Amino acid sequence: MRVTVRVPAKINVVLRVGPPRADGFHDLATVFHAVSLFDDVTADDVADGTGVRLTLDGPYARGLAADESNLAVRAAHALASAAGVAADVRLRVHKSIPVAAGLAGGSADAAGVLLACNRLWGLHWPVPRLTEVAATLGSDVPFSVLGGTALGTGRGERLEPVRVGGELHWVLAVADGELSTPEVYRRLDEIRADAGPPELPSGVVAAMERADAPAVAASMANDMEAAALSLRPSLRSTLDAGRAAGALAGIVSGSGPTCVFLAPDGPGAAALAQVLSASAPCRTTEVVTGPAVPTVHVAS
Ligand code: C5P
Repeated sequence: MRVTVRVPAKINVVLRVGPPRADGFHDLATVFHAVSLFDDVTADDVADGTGVRLTLDGPYARGLAADESNLAVRAAHALASAAGVAADVRLRVHKSIPVAAGLAGGSADAAGVLLACNRLWGLHWPVPRLTEVAATLGSDVPFSVLGGTALGTGRGERLEPVRVGGELHWVLAVADGELSTPEVYRRLDEIRADAGPPELPSGVVAAMERADAPAVAASMANDMEAAALSLRPSLRSTLDAGRAAGALAGIVSGSGPTCVFLAPDGPGAAALAQVLSASAPCRTTEVVTGPAVPTVHVAS
């Protein structure tokens, strides 16, 4: 049997970050939004006692370890051990989501493996049971299992889905190089005096429900942006270029360094991407829509 899962990248439309907790994490209030840039996870049944084997390919596979340190491999082991089954599977991940870019690419791969092995191993666990395992792997993994749009609290693992009544059009400006999430959180703690409990701006949920781009734009904000800019000052020119080129709003995505811009519509997004490609110091641009959801395909 072969199971393939297309699993989307995520952006944070709003990301509010509280002070550091005793366990080293930060409480968040965020609007997660999955967008149409996908990694493809393929899981083949081997059932021969050879364990979890992973191969990686695609535009962002270079330099990634395919060993036990890879979150995709850890996801297969975590699910097998939670379900009490043998962790035998051959995994292939085709990486189109940039790595360490604030787009939860690694979390997407882990989520794809959970969804794929759930079928491959005949578990048929419901999503809430999968998200429990997902939360042991990383703060963004539960949302990556769900996709769509959701409010996130706790360290990001407590989720409340939001039903978005339309499509939003985004441009991702993918920067050269990576930013380490723990490093960006550390810098945030250094540069911020006092942080209160994180709260979402009023109106953002209603704006998302209506897929009302100008209203969504008015709420977009990211507390981690100042820290990402302090580590990577060139992102300021990308944000300025996007705003000057007609984006309704532009922010750093998650811990960066990708910048995400909201466009009024599809043609607006295409035009914005063209200007950004020519004028911003970024590696590439991606025109995407949201919300997107993971899809699972089974072939015997
Ligand atoms: O959960 P995840 O493994 O993705 O987190 C990576 C690191 O990011 C954590 O070790 C922590 O330093 C930081 N983090 C945080 N608060 C969160 C999520 C992540 O401080 N809510």
